Amino acid sequence: MSAPNKAFDPVSVSSLEPAAVDGMVEAALVAISAAGDLEALKAARLAHAGDRSPLALANREIGALPPAAKAEVGKRMGQARARVRDALDARTAELEAERDARVLVEEAVDVTLPVGRRAMGARHPLTTLMERMSDVFIAMGYEVAEGPEAEAEWFNFDALNVPPDHPARTMQDTFFVGTEDSGVVLRTQTSPIQLRAMLERDLPIYVVAPGRVFRTDELDATHTPVFHQIEGLAIDEGITMADLKGTLEHLATAMFGEGVRVRLRPSYFPFTEPSAEMDLECFVCRGTSVGDPANPCRTCSSEGWIEWGGCGMVNPRVLRAAGIDTARYSGFAFGMGVERTLMFRHGVTDMRDMVEGDARFTAAFGIEV
Ligand code: DAH
Repeated sequence: MSAPNKAFDPVSVSSLEPAAVDGMVEAALVAISAAGDLEALKAARLAHAGDRSPLALANREIGALPPAAKAEVGKRMGQARARVRDALDARTAELEAERDARVLVEEAVDVTLPVGRRAMGARHPLTTLMERMSDVFIAMGYEVAEGPEAEAEWFNFDALNVPPDHPARTMQDTFFVGTEDSGVVLRTQTSPIQLRAMLERDLPIYVVAPGRVFRTDELDATHTPVFHQIEGLAIDEGITMADLKGTLEHLATAMFGEGVRVRLRPSYFPFTEPSAEMDLECFVCRGTSVGDPANPCRTCSSEGWIEWGGCGMVNPRVLRAAGIDTARYSGFAFGMGVERTLMFRHGVTDMRDMVEGDARFTAAFGIEV
């Protein structure tokens, strides 16, 4: 006989009785199957399989049993705890499957639902037209020149041979930056870039300068206080008016189609001598509407020609202002309105459509980027 087991305590070890253990397992199984979601199951796991659960506490008592009883009770306890673990695993799998199915339904995206369409951005037709016009010159070897929009009065007027008493210098046309005698204006034309190009570059010079210009005009169908011009300047040895005309005709063809003619009409600009107004043969009627009331042309008002811009041979005074030897070099210059070009080319009749930023207007030009 072995010595009496002093540690044996029949009271506490009563928890290892088969009926008591079955009761604990039963309680665990009821709680597990009652758990309606993973959160509740977590609580059930803690209560019935955690370190402080009745089964865990009972299990600790095995050590207090007489050795002969340990094996049998240990086996029974192992089985009991395994039943609880299996039930927990099974319920976990069930609840996870339920949750996944619910998430699939609740978070499903109906790809057929209409969405708020966001139109793709695109550049303004004036921008793309300016680039197209510049490209025509770049292909001929010209470079793109730039100048500031807030320009020195000297570049905008004086150097271009526009005397101080010239009407273009009055408050009427010009936005002054600060006071009227600040010497700084918002450039009224792209022509000051001619001077900047002459001062900055080596000869010969072939530049084109698209840009924004400003005049104190009210916005209406044919005027806007902010508009665009494209300036051209060629200075080389032996440049003549014929070069100017051929260059403009090339641009006209590129913009309006094969065979559109350009006409130079005598005019006056202080910075060119001789100066001319350039007219474009109406690219719609090609002059056939002139004197034919039965066949009117809306594009040229049956005039046969449309005014496109100003041009001429660079005035030697301007060349001299830039320090260019006029005995050796001559040049031509031209400047035309980009808005006008867009109007002719695309039949736009109201300038306000170009400045108001209504995407329905620009959308008609496609999303050229
Ligand atoms: N700058 C002139 C204007 O805004 C247009 C112009 C005329 C430009 C003759 C030129 C030119 O380069 O040679 O009305």
